[in-house]
Amino acid sequence: MSLVASQTEPQPNNESVDLGNMAEVSQIPRITISAFWESDQVRQTLETAASDRRMSKAHVGVQSGGIPAAAEFYSSAPTPNLIIVESGLQGDGLLAELNRLADVCDSSTNVVVIGHHNDIAMYRQLISCGVAEYLVAPVKMADVMKAVTDIFCDDAKGPLGKMIAFIGAKGGCGSSTICHNVAWAISSSFSNEVVLADLDLPYGTANINLDQDPAQGIAEAVFSPDRVDEILLDRLLAKCAEHLSLLAAPSSLERTYDFEENAFNHVLEIAQKGVPNVLVDLPHSWNGWTRQVLAAADEVIITAAPELANLRNAKNLVDTIGDIRPNDGKPRLILNQVGVPKRPEIGVSDFSAALDVEPIAVIPFEPALFGTASNNGQMISEANAKDPIAEAFVSIAQVITGRAELKAEKKSPLGFLKKFRRSKSE
Ligand SMILES: Nc1ncnc2c1ncn2[C@@H]1O[C@H](COP(=O)(O)OP(=O)(O)OP(=O)(O)O)[C@@H](O)[C@H]1O
Ligand SMILES: [Mg+2]
Repeated sequence: MSLVASQTEPQPNNESVDLGNMAEVSQIPRITISAFWESDQVRQTLETAASDRRMSKAHVGVQSGGIPAAAEFYSSAPTPNLIIVESGLQGDGLLAELNRLADVCDSSTNVVVIGHHNDIAMYRQLISCGVAEYLVAPVKMADVMKAVTDIFCDDAKGPLGKMIAFIGAKGGCGSSTICHNVAWAISSSFSNEVVLADLDLPYGTANINLDQDPAQGIAEAVFSPDRVDEILLDRLLAKCAEHLSLLAAPSSLERTYDFEENAFNHVLEIAQKGVPNVLVDLPHSWNGWTRQVLAAADEVIITAAPELANLRNAKNLVDTIGDIRPNDGKPRLILNQVGVPKRPEIGVSDFSAALDVEPIAVIPFEPALFGTASNNGQMISEANAKDPIAEAFVSIAQVITGRAELKAEKKSPLGFLKKFRRSKSE
């Protein structure tokens, strides 16, 4: 089953649709949007918006059924970046339906309501409950697109995308493999857009693992930073799957790669404006620019194998990253290549106790599975979707994108849901 609501074919520009004033509408970034209409007017407007050129990067699904259909659909599927729902209800009836939708919404999902009652008190209540916008039907296309622009293109709200940096505690411990598979899991299991940036310029393997051979990639961006804007970045991205694009490393030794401390900041900032998830595969090295990328990231994932040098380096990374980011949570830990035959290993509990960090995943050493996948340019889930390791990558993706929490972590209520719960009990 598709994880985004099935899409009706966008209609060509419909003369009966009031486009409105498009002056404040921007190019919409690579987000996923699902819209659930009740009336024909709203359907036509949504379909016309979906086919507008400014929506060309977004994945938009338009279907009937209003809030009940949305709640039903997403009871068994991850929610997109934005759900637009039409409802003829008002007051408690509307809140009750939205509460059902909130029950199945990921915390990061935004909700726009198109209602039929021009009621300022209800508008205020919905906004205070966490609804991103309430529009009154009949809606103009520009109003819908302006609401999307305000949510996803407002620089004052910070970048759209979350940057998640992966670094290995020691060379060859599997950090890149995990980064690529998690990028794949976010894009395929959640239908959520991902840009994967391979910052290991001389030796990067994302191109091999994803079976890509793009002529251009991260090197063009980093060697001519003044030219980098959203249009150039689009050209440099290699599309690997419906929701996954790669900013590939040249993986060549034709030149040397000595970078200034801030060399990658600009290109990563531009990437973050365009997609909800930017995954960064860092090489196992320590210099000004790796430190800078780690400082800028929203999440840092350290991969380590269960032996002494990995433990020593992981401890140094956890401490140093903690110093660089004193106001953020600790880096996440993944223990990988656990159970190499005949290798004396440090136990998982001893390893995590020494770091004071619980691993978000413990991945066994499976040379046949990983070797086959990498030789075939496949992800683990393509090589064997049923293998528990493929499921582990989905779980990691859930944790680092905020769709799920570790059991040990204190459960923080979902934003949208929490607000509705609170408003109900008030
Ligand atoms: N759990 C695992 N079991 C068996 N092999 C694995 C496992 N994880 C990764 N590998 C293999 O280990 C090798 C090194 O992996 P990878 O390149 O991802 O490591 P890395 O930490 O990024 O290395 P580098 O230091 O070169 O950046 C690859 O051949 C990969 O297929
Ligand atoms: Mg690597």
